[in-house]
Amino acid sequence: MKIVSMFLALASLTQAAPSHQNQYQNDLSNRQAGSWPFGPFVTSAGKIRDTTGKNIVYAGTNWPGHGEVMIPEGLQYQSIEYIVTKIKSIGMNAIRLTFAIEMIDQIYANNGQDITIQRAFTQALGQANGTRILNQVLAKNPQFTASTTRLQVFDAVAAELARQQIYVHLDNHISKGMWCCSGTDGNTWWGDTYFNTANWVRGLSYMANHGRNWAGLVSIGLRNEPREPTNNNALRSSSYNWQSLYNFHKQGASAISKANPALLIFLSGINYDTTVAPFFDGSTLSPGNTRFSLSDFPGYANKLVLEVHNYETGINSCSSLQYNLFNKGFKAMTSEAKIQFPVLLTEFGFAMDANTWRGTYATCLASYLPSQKAGWTIWVLAGSYYVREGIQDYDEGWGLLTRDWREWRSQGYVDGLFRGMVRNSLAG
Ligand SMILES: *[C@@H]1O[C@H](CO)[C@@H](O)[C@H](O)[C@H]1NC(C)=O
Repeated sequence: MKIVSMFLALASLTQAAPSHQNQYQNDLSNRQAGSWPFGPFVTSAGKIRDTTGKNIVYAGTNWPGHGEVMIPEGLQYQSIEYIVTKIKSIGMNAIRLTFAIEMIDQIYANNGQDITIQRAFTQALGQANGTRILNQVLAKNPQFTASTTRLQVFDAVAAELARQQIYVHLDNHISKGMWCCSGTDGNTWWGDTYFNTANWVRGLSYMANHGRNWAGLVSIGLRNEPREPTNNNALRSSSYNWQSLYNFHKQGASAISKANPALLIFLSGINYDTTVAPFFDGSTLSPGNTRFSLSDFPGYANKLVLEVHNYETGINSCSSLQYNLFNKGFKAMTSEAKIQFPVLLTEFGFAMDANTWRGTYATCLASYLPSQKAGWTIWVLAGSYYVREGIQDYDEGWGLLTRDWREWRSQGYVDGLFRGMVRNSLAG
């Protein structure tokens, strides 16, 4: 999610929930017995397939865990079980769970031990508010204590999602834990202020390996919204191009494949991941002369998926929006592509008020994505954030939920369009 997205678009379980522990263990053994999630998934041309040969489409939402606190959001207001039940109640089957590389950096800096949620909240929110919010989290989620770690919260989220049979897609959203994304946030591109390439590879490996214990983890994204470092001319001119992106993606994909060969690996494109065209259309990767080649992904070429984002919220022509989406991404699912891939729209979103959903953008996506059999995760499963851009308890107007994470923020959207979009995406 980028801050100025609309303008640009217009211009262009060690301590898992005790009550679920047995279920979680069951899920692990069931996986071996060949039941849900019927992984590992593989790709076949433009499709994702499970072990039964069924085509898999994601219809889900983004659950942020990459903010300053680096803990999945919303837990001071509701229990994990409540939030997951809410997702399940309208049939969504996937969560794009975001994390920051900084979390893994801190684990390495702390002799391999993650920090406690008590420390995470007080570091990010201050002593008084951090303690108050921690106590609210513990009241709503009594399986945790002050000494529970951040990763144990991620584990508990993953366990509950598995219990309710919702796939987990891990997403490396940013390096430094904070709101994403802008051209000047230091997280834009490999080599930017906070975006150390070696730490990124290490963080991806760590989470891919850690996620081996999550029954429902099926895929991971290499990097959210690669973008131009607008305040760093040297980096921009030396590295912001398709050829470099391809090289970084090869590095990240190789590391993930070694750490957890079961996972699908999602590749993103430049310009805030609004296009992945050179990956599927057979063109040279500028400024070089090489092309995307499946042989660069030896042994895991059938794990590669493309992801794109779209925030053309002001568009007034559905055919223009479809044209853009097709040519920048979804063509890869068809025989018109030189190399076929499954493609997902892992971010789109808009103000969750009474009427925005009735506009061209939301209605067009609600029909187009199911018609393409394309997966998607809407931005965003939130009501508020622990902190965003310096504001604590930030009320998220684009969130699916009310500030207290209790009700749908736009019941009209959910009943009038969204439920049907989920149903149509998962039909047949
Ligand atoms: C602490 O929380 C209170 C109540 O939500 C809020 O008004 C205040 O701004 C917060 N403090 C900081 C430093 O953000």
